[in-house]
Amino acid sequence: MLAKTDCSLPTPKLSAILDKYKKSPGSLLEILREAQAINGYLSREILQLIAEEVGVPESKVYGVATFYSLFKTAPTGRYIIRICESAPCHIRGAQDVLAAIEKTLAIKPGETTPDGKFTLEFTSCLGLCGVAPAMMINDQVFGNLTGDRVREIINSF
Ligand code: FES
Repeated sequence: MLAKTDCSLPTPKLSAILDKYKKSPGSLLEILREAQAINGYLSREILQLIAEEVGVPESKVYGVATFYSLFKTAPTGRYIIRICESAPCHIRGAQDVLAAIEKTLAIKPGETTPDGKFTLEFTSCLGLCGVAPAMMINDQVFGNLTGDRVREIINSF
């Protein structure tokens, strides 16, 4: 049973997840993965509850949640733009594409637009080096990007 009962937290779902892994020490990654699926990110309050229930320091839980890129500790936008920052894309103009995205959306990598529509992130090679520079928006891939083309793509969402 969870120690805190803040009604803004998804405690019944989180409680079920924690109960499921109660007898499986070392399941922190699975707990975080399933807890993130509740709201799409891991809030500070959720991380505190997990730390209390699992019996590990909050700093360790926070450290794990921020180490792996699959975990989010803040809400993300409906569309996640992942711009490749690996060398082939970099050489072929990814910085210009990034600058166009930043200017169009007025956000930097790691940020979300105030309307919650777009989040901008870096990623490593997407396997699209032949059409570098490349990016993904959710599960759609885009290559041969230029500043003009990326503005058109963003405006189409
Ligand atoms: S280096 Fe960017 S897609 Fe491969």
